[in-house]
Amino acid sequence: MEVRSHDIIVLGSGLAGLRAAVEVARHSDFDVAIVSKVQLMRSHSVCAEGGTGAVMHPEEGDSFELHAWDTVKGSDFLADQDVVWRFVQAMPREILLLEHWGIPWSRRPDGRIHQRPFGGHSFPRGCYAADKTGFFEMHALYDTLQKYATVARYDECFVTSIIIEGGEFRGLTVWNLTNGEFFLLRGKALIIATGGACRMYGFTTYSLTATGDGLAMAYRAGLPLKDMEFVQFHPTGLVPSGILITEGARGEGGYLVNNKGERFMSQYAPSMMEIAPRDIVSRSMITEIEAGRGFAGVDGLDYIHLDLRHLGAERIYERLPMIRELAMKFNFIDPVFEPIPTRPAAHYFMGGIHTDIDGATPIPGIWAAGEAACVSLHGANRLGLNSTAECLVWGGIAGGEVVKFLAKQRSLPPPPSEGRFKEEEARIFGRFPEKGEADIYEVRRQLQRTMDKQVAVFRTGPELEAALDTIRELKASVPRLGVADRGRVYNTNLLAALEVENLLDLAEVIISGGLARSESRGAHARRDYPHRDDANWLKHTLAHHTSEGPRLEYIPVRITLWQPVERKY
Ligand code: FUM
Repeated sequence: MEVRSHDIIVLGSGLAGLRAAVEVARHSDFDVAIVSKVQLMRSHSVCAEGGTGAVMHPEEGDSFELHAWDTVKGSDFLADQDVVWRFVQAMPREILLLEHWGIPWSRRPDGRIHQRPFGGHSFPRGCYAADKTGFFEMHALYDTLQKYATVARYDECFVTSIIIEGGEFRGLTVWNLTNGEFFLLRGKALIIATGGACRMYGFTTYSLTATGDGLAMAYRAGLPLKDMEFVQFHPTGLVPSGILITEGARGEGGYLVNNKGERFMSQYAPSMMEIAPRDIVSRSMITEIEAGRGFAGVDGLDYIHLDLRHLGAERIYERLPMIRELAMKFNFIDPVFEPIPTRPAAHYFMGGIHTDIDGATPIPGIWAAGEAACVSLHGANRLGLNSTAECLVWGGIAGGEVVKFLAKQRSLPPPPSEGRFKEEEARIFGRFPEKGEADIYEVRRQLQRTMDKQVAVFRTGPELEAALDTIRELKASVPRLGVADRGRVYNTNLLAALEVENLLDLAEVIISGGLARSESRGAHARRDYPHRDDANWLKHTLAHHTSEGPRLEYIPVRITLWQPVERKY
């Protein structure tokens, strides 16, 4: 058994993972390993576009209370309010830390950081770097990490399992995609920061690599997943590719227009219009499309126009250069002269690995941060700007907590048995037949079609039941998936089989949670239960893995500041 050891393992190299590694490195000499299935700067976080939310100019009218209220109301009152309060207070420092680490924030003429309006925020709160904010944030963290000799990287290494024994973290089994090695990675502590899993949808803003591997592994290892039924649809995915067209485009003043030439958001959210929260804008767009007021697209991808023409060329060039480039390269459209075809695209998991307010999971030695975690900041609907922000805040918090933990945890926990390691190696490399009856890519297509159709912006009980049946049939076909490539080096065939298995496990959790939750709240909109039901459902869902499927239990929401009221915009 090949074994490597480090003090701390950070699993995932997006914003949350890098921020955690920086925190450990700047406050300790502990040796950190960042493990990622991609090369570090190919993490999905580089695709974040529009901005990061923080109260930067209180003297101009913004405040922590306002940011917290917007977040709680946006969450449809499912956010834990002590978490929200900690978050809003922590954010300004994160913006300044990035500034010190070299990020080129877009600026006002007076030289201060500029902020743009965003959905559901009652104050312009989005700090941004044109429309490539995630890329520049990642770059600032990446550059900062170069200062520390204590940080090692395992790029293009796919983790296949998280080993928990005796109620504590014991290590990871890792497949090095570049040379085919399979090894045990031991650590005293683990931070899971592997992002979400919207690749189970066909029409999504996600990178192809974002397949929820960390979430699925954590779930199978015994960590509960929280509030997974809440999947966010971003209103403006570019049709037909799904590429993100930032909400910043509407923040800058872009209009959503139906085939009658109407700015229909006046019917749905008259005070906030196009920058109402995403759940509301997405439902409004789908309602317009279903009423025949959309534009006909291919493969059922009817769409709504995002019109930026009135902003003028100069503003588009300066504030939204990548949006223009994407529209030109992928759709041969110049938004300076033509509207952009968009429709709601699967974009974000509000749910994730259950953690406490410090990012600690129920298993000693394991933390989670960023989209992979559910610290309960976003509740049933996340506001734009709050995800990159969450990655920074809880990446930092988890890093700090692990440093404190290691001051007490001096030695590595005992390794798992060699037998367990060999079993996992056989599960990965020996399980799939060369000529299987089931086709990996067809299973993935069916999964995506099912999720796109039956677990989308609007849901019903019968649709969710049908979806669950399909997912269970697809899961049953996993042992029959044919993996024709028998090698270990860059075997993308095998990788695709493992990824689809992860996506199927998570889809089952999402649908089971959604089926049980007989109400509409935030992004979970049931046509058969159209109202929020605080009497019965003001609670978080926890899903525990069992061989028969998820076992659900519920825990209370922490309400420390505001009682739930009707949400109006
Ligand atoms: O629209 C966007 O730029 C996405 C931002 C977010 O998801 O927070």
